[in-house]
Amino acid sequence: MVMNAVLVRKAGGPEQLYVGEVPRPVPGKGQVLIRVVATSVNGADLVQRAGRYPAPRGESEILGLEAAGEIAALGAGVSDWKVGDEVMSLVAGGGYAEYALAWADHLLPKPENISFTEAACIAEVYLTAYLNLFLVGELEDGETVLVHGGGGGVNTAAIQLCQELVPGVRMMVTASPKKVERVQDLGVHRVVNYRAEDFAEVAKEFTSARGLDLVLDHIGADYLDANMRALGVGGRLVVIGISSGPRTELNLGRMMVKRQRIIGSVLRSRTVEEKAALIASFRAAVMPALEARRIVPVIHAVFPLELVGEAHRAMAAGAHFGKLALKVAPVGIE
Ligand SMILES: NC(=O)c1ccc[n+]([C@@H]2O[C@H](COP(=O)([O-])OP(=O)(O)OC[C@H]3O[C@@H](n4cnc5c(N)ncnc54)[C@H](OP(=O)(O)O)[C@@H]3O)[C@@H](O)[C@H]2O)c1
Repeated sequence: MVMNAVLVRKAGGPEQLYVGEVPRPVPGKGQVLIRVVATSVNGADLVQRAGRYPAPRGESEILGLEAAGEIAALGAGVSDWKVGDEVMSLVAGGGYAEYALAWADHLLPKPENISFTEAACIAEVYLTAYLNLFLVGELEDGETVLVHGGGGGVNTAAIQLCQELVPGVRMMVTASPKKVERVQDLGVHRVVNYRAEDFAEVAKEFTSARGLDLVLDHIGADYLDANMRALGVGGRLVVIGISSGPRTELNLGRMMVKRQRIIGSVLRSRTVEEKAALIASFRAAVMPALEARRIVPVIHAVFPLELVGEAHRAMAAGAHFGKLALKVAPVGIE
């Protein structure tokens, strides 16, 4: 049997993307087949399309790190789920297709009062934010945190997760001038216009010179020194992206005296078992807030699968606020 999926003619720009037919995957032991209703665009998809971020070995080469839909078939040994269950899932690839494989222990039940489009904007960014703020970054209630780019998918999720799980945390968030007001509306304590203000100086004022407890960074080289200046004694810097580059200088003296830590973290390359443990922790901590719609993903725009190239152009242009979703199933199923 065949299915439609987004394919890449050859590594390059968004014009290389097209919808074509490929064989429908068959679930193996411990896996399920999801009939995908919606998926979403993540930064990694653009880098993979350009040929600079190959799918992990053995995983689907089709783009797409998450999928929301209905279970269409079960692989051997899957007993906790049944055909027809509505789910959302992290996938290591293959989300931009009518059917996608997922590990049964990576599935999350789609809450009834969340649409498939919303459900498709949860797994990658909320799991990334949850993992790196709480499990890697060890953020505790009462601490202070800086996240960069508060209008992005991961960081709108990070803001909501802090407000839900550690309401005593004080958040500082950077944004470009056109996004400052909307980030302020999300209810953070201090928004920094990163084009006009030095966020390390603002961090000093924000913490009465003590320095921050945690910084979540995806800018990399250009922000390393300022991130470390912004942190206080015992502060942690979690690096989840390197958009400005991977190499720069580090003042080891200051890091040593202040007993600071820098931790790099990637979700996609973690093992199936590590992801299952993360998802179980997330399910217990965050699903009640999703079910009650206290947490709802911020969605900037929804594109039909055929306009996937437009969705990639929009992501690259960076004017979006929150997530860009892709609708896979025919209009009518929300
Ligand atoms: N390590 C992992 O496992 C993992 C997983 C998922 C994502 N990521 C990474 O996390 C990052 C965010 O992903 P995303 O999906 O949220 O992307 P996104 O929606 O494009 O968000 C990125 C945000 O960064 C902001 N930004 C750009 N330059 C900035 C700067 N110099 N200072 C502060 N903010 C800046 C942009 O907003 P402005 O318009 O305000 O600049 C934008 O809102 C990406 O680098 C992605 O690769 C890592």
